[in-house]
Amino acid sequence: MIRAILPGSFDPLTNGHVDLALRALKMFDEVVVAVLINSQKRPLFSVEERMHFISESIDNPKVSCVSFEGLLVDFAKKMGAKVLIRGLRAVSDFEYECQMAMMNRDLAPEIETAFLMPKSSYSFLSSRMVKEVASLRGDVSHLVPPVVLHALHQRFGADRS
Ligand code: PNS
Repeated sequence: MIRAILPGSFDPLTNGHVDLALRALKMFDEVVVAVLINSQKRPLFSVEERMHFISESIDNPKVSCVSFEGLLVDFAKKMGAKVLIRGLRAVSDFEYECQMAMMNRDLAPEIETAFLMPKSSYSFLSSRMVKEVASLRGDVSHLVPPVVLHALHQRFGADRS
């Protein structure tokens, strides 16, 4: 039984994240979507909201959602997970992701990082861009799950389409 962790800020969840979680399920028995609680950042959505988006959008008994604080590898050990999943959208992601994977390996050599590529139509997608476009009332309906779209519309108003 291999449990994998898909960690991130998920502020907010995008269709790219959902795509990664479903791809990971084809390779691992269980996927835990792990939402970082970072007191140094001011996210748009609370941890509870972000977890709600995930549980509403990914309806699969093999996918669960948990929040965590502190080191990711400590959380992975606590959860009995041997694999960390990260998405690679483009070459520009590589340097940061490589550094993070190597640091995590240095801290916990028994835990592997697996990189997955999202569907090509999500290769430009990021939570940051979604927030920016939604705040300017652009249409992001094809980029985020319905529950996230609703929450974005509540924050910023509906798009102009
Ligand atoms: O979605 P993000 O913001 O790119 O996710 C980054 C995340 C949560 C995976 C990363 O910041 C993280 O693992 N934070 C926990 C602290 C930690 O373990 N740091 C050492 C690894 S570099």
